[in-house]
Amino acid sequence: MQLQKVVEVKGLTASFDDKEVLSDVSFSANKGEVTVILGGSGSGKTTVLRHLLGLLTLHQGQISVLGKDIGTLTEDEQRDLYLKLGVFYQSGALLNSLTVGENVGLPLVQHSRIPRELIEEIVTMKLGLVNLEYAYHLYPSQLSGGMLKRAALARAIAMDPPLLFCDEPGAGLDPVSLESLDHLILNLKSLLGMSVVLVTHEVASIMRVADRVVFLEEGKTVFEGSLEKALKSEEPGVKAFFSVLKTQKDKNL
Ligand SMILES: Nc1ncnc2c1ncn2[C@@H]1O[C@H](COP(=O)(O)OP(=O)(O)O)[C@@H](O)[C@H]1O
Ligand SMILES: [Mg+2]
Repeated sequence: MQLQKVVEVKGLTASFDDKEVLSDVSFSANKGEVTVILGGSGSGKTTVLRHLLGLLTLHQGQISVLGKDIGTLTEDEQRDLYLKLGVFYQSGALLNSLTVGENVGLPLVQHSRIPRELIEEIVTMKLGLVNLEYAYHLYPSQLSGGMLKRAALARAIAMDPPLLFCDEPGAGLDPVSLESLDHLILNLKSLLGMSVVLVTHEVASIMRVADRVVFLEEGKTVFEGSLEKALKSEEPGVKAFFSVLKTQKDKNL
């Protein structure tokens, strides 16, 4: 059975000023899977995500998200689509003047007509999913870095998005907090059936969460396939990236 595609990118080419930063990028992400976009700093990962989210105008290539060709959508269709996408940024800070619970509920207050009491129940449930129920009435300044990330994740899934985009969510986390964040992402996949497109360069995370890997190098897709295939790839950049693991194993780390 062919897997259903939640993201399909074909021939995406993009420039800033006169500099081409994405050249003929093509890949897809399957429903119910975690797809990791991987590549060195400046290879174009964030630029790809911003195109998927409609934050950058598509000039060349084709992008379909949740089965919608984003180049042909009307404004209403765009709004409908983007409400179905969860976004979790590296710098996805919470608003300091609101409690954690209010932050998580904000997308629901802004984009739905759900009554207040029900929003509170939904927020409590989302905070439960990220093991932060007790933080409902705390302010962001009272949380640790790992807790802030989990709260931001709860906010990203407030609207039950079928598709979640994460841009380097683990940046700045210690290994233990990173592992717990990875487990939460896996839970979203297995418990809620969410599809996830995740940008990261943490090898440990990739090993834990990735079903599929897309590797970018200087704005080009040099590898696309299962994690298993990525680990055996002879593509120099991919091989070099995963060789870190082998070195760690050799040293018995
Ligand atoms: N808004 C922008 N204006 C000009 N250049 C940009 C802009 N955003 C990104 N770039 C350039 O595009 C390239 C890819 O950037 P980015 O997608 O952020 O890479 P990554 O997320 O893989 O680190 C880099 O060379 C970066 O300097
Ligand atoms: Mg980036």
